Amino acid sequence: MIITIASLKGGSGKTSLSVHLAHAIALAGRRVLLVDADPQASASTWASAREEKPPFSVVGMARNTLHRELPDLVSTYDHALIDTPPRTSKLTGSAIVSSDLVLIPVQPSSYDVWAAAETVAMVEQVQGIKPDLLAAFVVNRAIGRTVIARDILDALQDYPFPVLPTTIAQRVAIAESSGGHTVFEVEPSGAAARDFRALAKDVLKLMGAEKW
Ligand SMILES: Nc1ncnc2c1ncn2[C@@H]1O[C@H](COP(=O)(O)OP(=O)(O)OP(=O)(O)O)[C@@H](O)[C@H]1O
Ligand SMILES: [Mg+2]
Repeated sequence: MIITIASLKGGSGKTSLSVHLAHAIALAGRRVLLVDADPQASASTWASAREEKPPFSVVGMARNTLHRELPDLVSTYDHALIDTPPRTSKLTGSAIVSSDLVLIPVQPSSYDVWAAAETVAMVEQVQGIKPDLLAAFVVNRAIGRTVIARDILDALQDYPFPVLPTTIAQRVAIAESSGGHTVFEVEPSGAAARDFRALAKDVLKLMGAEKW
């Protein structure tokens, strides 16, 4: 299964979600590859900031030929996640074309909901040639049960993709993970780890799989 995390909006949480979902799936005993398709190389920088080996493989591949190279590359893994750059690019198109599922992180702000239109259009274009391609929104950086958080769920209903039931809250542990670790290492029984485990289950369910 290949999952692309895409949002043309910068800073929506693509890299944070990629790294944590990769770790959540690896913890279930699966061989996971995280493909860093962002020329900013945030996921690769995350991996190289670590002293220990990451719990999953990370490869830098910011190339438009991704869709051609990926099948060989992923053959020795159970699952691959692709972290993509902000802004429209051939790279993001190449990642989406290669995928079974596209996850679109959105922050609870109207700007993010409006900006999602561009990402949705890109996914729909690919669905024209690949009708089995799934897509879903993930609300990231939610702050409690605020009115704005509820409004965002309503606003996202206007798009043709579902919103995953698990929302990732705004958490210091997630912000600090850019130092080269994940919340599963720092606070394995904390709230952020719980959110990401639940998110991984949502993804499984969406894919119609019982287990990874
Ligand atoms: N749930 C969260 N709680 C706290 N901080 C978060 C959360 N999600 C993301 N962040 C922080 O927000 C910033 C942007 O997140 P991230 O780098 O994951 O976004 P991105 O979409 O990959 O950005 P870019 O578009 O630049 O690639 C980072 O500093 C990250 O630590
Ligand atoms: Mg990023």
